Amino acid sequence: MEIETREIRFSEERLAEVRQILQRYPEGRQKSALLPLLHIAQAEFDNWLSPDVMDYVAGLLDIEPIEVYEVASFYTMFNLRPVGKYVLEICRTGPCCLVGAEKVQAHIEEKLGIKPGETTPDGMFTLKPVECLAACGFGPVMQVGATYYEKLTPERTDELLERFRNENKRATYC
Ligand code: FES
Repeated sequence: MEIETREIRFSEERLAEVRQILQRYPEGRQKSALLPLLHIAQAEFDNWLSPDVMDYVAGLLDIEPIEVYEVASFYTMFNLRPVGKYVLEICRTGPCCLVGAEKVQAHIEEKLGIKPGETTPDGMFTLKPVECLAACGFGPVMQVGATYYEKLTPERTDELLERFRNENKRATYC
């Protein structure tokens, strides 16, 4: 992967963002900025957090790398291995399943030829079932980067996949 040869360091623009975030917390409490910094790191380094990237974040916050690993491995929005440009996060919790989430997921699996956790050979899509996205009244719900797509059907999903293919740019949370 490209990241293995790239220097692990935020761009100046990202560093300015980091400094602004750190100012929100009292002196000595910078560790509280871990989640926003992980989002920035993921957006900056190809949408996944390698151990080197997590170590870099630990250094910025002056905390132990294990503290970063623990948090990054707990939340499903963080990717700990390379993913596609579009991570399709399908809600698999009860209310969404009742209105067709499983059907939508099965449709994506068949259409893209991938199973949960896998990425298409062209590096475009990763399928990632997740728990409730807190939009239960609008299911089936799929999150892609910072955007929610609601009331999905297989047809609507096809339209979205086509749109993503044409846009061909990485979807991130920030
Ligand atoms: S059950 Fe799907 S968003 Fe809550």
